[in-house]
Amino acid sequence: MKRTHTPLVIGNWKMNPQSITAARTLFRDVQKDVSRLRNVDVGIAPPAVYLAEFQKLAKGKRISLAAQNVFWEKLGARTGEIGVSMLKSVDVTKVIIGHSERRALGETDEGVNKKVLQVLKAGLIAVVCVGEKERDNHGHYLTFVEKQLQRALSGIPKAKLPHVVIAYEPVWAIGTGDTATPEDAHEMKLFIQKVLSTLFGRVAVSKVRILYGGSVDAKNAEALLHEGAVDGFLVGGASLRASEFSAIVKTASEYEPR
Ligand code: PGA
Repeated sequence: MKRTHTPLVIGNWKMNPQSITAARTLFRDVQKDVSRLRNVDVGIAPPAVYLAEFQKLAKGKRISLAAQNVFWEKLGARTGEIGVSMLKSVDVTKVIIGHSERRALGETDEGVNKKVLQVLKAGLIAVVCVGEKERDNHGHYLTFVEKQLQRALSGIPKAKLPHVVIAYEPVWAIGTGDTATPEDAHEMKLFIQKVLSTLFGRVAVSKVRILYGGSVDAKNAEALLHEGAVDGFLVGGASLRASEFSAIVKTASEYEPR
């Protein structure tokens, strides 16, 4: 299988760890472990409150900074929200949008779309999360993901496609230890490419990276890359252990298609 992209591995720390001291230690440990790895893009998405500190730690180093969320307006009376220029000002380059944990709290496809447009307009990379809640035998899960993609990507100029990353994260696999099989991941990657190609033309297929997320660990990463042919990972739980996360990054860095 031809490798078209440098693999991308992003650690989604969610609402962890508990303090800036613990966050700094974890960040430094990961940085040390991945500093010599090549042919892989590594991102960390910490809670937003740690980003400004990590800006200093990440300067000129291997890890890029990602945010877990953003608001679709730039400034103003939006208590508790964070704008895209604020993220840019602390060197954030990627923003996770539409994570299922946010959708469960009320994030809509429309909101996801507004955020994607705002992030792309600002020149950042939008990591758009999609994924079904459950599998069925009638292919409804495919239609579900198709609709999420159509709505999230509505109105995006073709020229921005290289700044779009899709993270396929089946909700049933997140934090459960119940990872999608490499075959499941591959089937969904091909399906997502088909949807992208319908929306934007065949050119989209070579521009957009498709990640997998949902109970990725150091043991299953290799098969997901090889047989699943995904372009990298969004890693939750395993990204909170520096050695485990680094092992995943290492696997991605050594990935050579057979
Ligand atoms: P998990 O989370 O690796 O803990 O399953 C993945 C995610 O939610 O991005």
